Amino acid sequence: MGSGPREHAIAWKLCQSKTVEHVYVVPGNAGTAMLGKATNITNVTVSDFARVVLLAKELGIGLVVPGAVQYFVDDIEGYFRGTGIACFACTKEVAQLEVSKPFAKDFMIRHDIPTARYQSFTAAGVEAAKDYILQVPYPVVVKAAGLAGGRGSIIPSSKEEALQAVDDILVHQKFGREAGSSLVVEEYLEGTEVSILTLSDCNGHTWTFPTLQDHKRMYDGDIGPNTGGLGAYGPTPFVTPTLMKEIEKSIVQPALEGLLFEGLKFVGCLYTGLMLTSSGPRVLEFNVRFGEPEMQSMVLLLDDETDFAEVLLACINGTLDQVHIDTVPGFACNVVMTGEGYPDPDLDHGGEVIEMRDTGSDAVFFHGQTRMEDGKLTTGGGKPLTCAVIRDTLREALDAAYEGVASVSFRGMHYRKDIAARLPNFSDYRALIHS
Ligand code: AMP
Ligand code: GLY
Repeated sequence: MGSGPREHAIAWKLCQSKTVEHVYVVPGNAGTAMLGKATNITNVTVSDFARVVLLAKELGIGLVVPGAVQYFVDDIEGYFRGTGIACFACTKEVAQLEVSKPFAKDFMIRHDIPTARYQSFTAAGVEAAKDYILQVPYPVVVKAAGLAGGRGSIIPSSKEEALQAVDDILVHQKFGREAGSSLVVEEYLEGTEVSILTLSDCNGHTWTFPTLQDHKRMYDGDIGPNTGGLGAYGPTPFVTPTLMKEIEKSIVQPALEGLLFEGLKFVGCLYTGLMLTSSGPRVLEFNVRFGEPEMQSMVLLLDDETDFAEVLLACINGTLDQVHIDTVPGFACNVVMTGEGYPDPDLDHGGEVIEMRDTGSDAVFFHGQTRMEDGKLTTGGGKPLTCAVIRDTLREALDAAYEGVASVSFRGMHYRKDIAARLPNFSDYRALIHS
């Protein structure tokens, strides 16, 4: 379910599953329409879950994979419960962990999960939020409490900008009424960001993917507004096995156990967004779904023996310990191309014709809301294309991904030219990580 590049990547991987006969994508995009074993379904509104359940029954579907968190919030899990059709989704109660920043922060405190210092404020607390910002001796991040498409966290460069952010969120409701009904002011953390994605089944078995790094800000050098993520690579060489063990022990397991303790069993993919600070890993956010754009690299890292459909079904059936899931050596990376106006949905209209030159490369292009109109591929806003590749070394992967990007053009096209550029010496990392 969905039409973004993450959903294209998931559908692409599911099409490779030996146990999968056919994939139906609701509504899909021009990229999923081109998959050999897949069909887009556009005559059903994806948010009409009752209709989606009927469709799944009519088509004899065995597994439903919703992409975006909104489906989880709107209770897709509940709609499929009792139908005999497996749905890879957590409950709407569990989705609060992603959807409500105050809930997530309070949860972390209850379960001793390391995170930035913070305070939550409601719409009535505009002045209190401003007083707090002026009073704390550190820089802050101001976050709309609810979902805002990855744009709801403002990283001000001064206390004045932080005060303005409070007005923007609570008074001017820049991110909408629901997302801006309250906010969290939290300590700005300095460090390196990583994404940890963990599959969790209903019997307590877990499997964590290699760590990846997203690039959230709009422009090179990590400046500009936050976006839905403009590129990712992994595995990240700086997350050593020892550090990974510490993250599992002090963050991922306490989160899953904490949820269980509170009657919220987690079945699905727990996405932990971390800042690796000089005083250890700190949680920036929890998401309850696959990462975007991490998934566009992740699917390339899974080995050929991994039957992705079987793995997702095993999460639902509690048998994750009994299926094969593994990755190949090497590095995957992806570079996201956006159109003019992105990330502002009011300015990002799409409708541009995409030219793609065939270079014979094995780079995979995952589509966003692209359309095929009169034989012409056009952008539909958001992130029209992501170029993803896998290679033995990170340097080779990056070169190949940028070569892929160079074969694409459309008016207003923007992409970050510095994916993974913070790493000092790409080529050496192969030895490091696989030794
Ligand atoms: P969030 O909306 O919580 O997912 O945050 C979006 C992005 O803002 C994160 O991926 C970070 O890049 C950045 N960010 C969020 N919280 C902090 C923080 N406390 N310190 C530094 N950067 C942050
Ligand atoms: N990579 C950011 C996200 O999936 O929320």
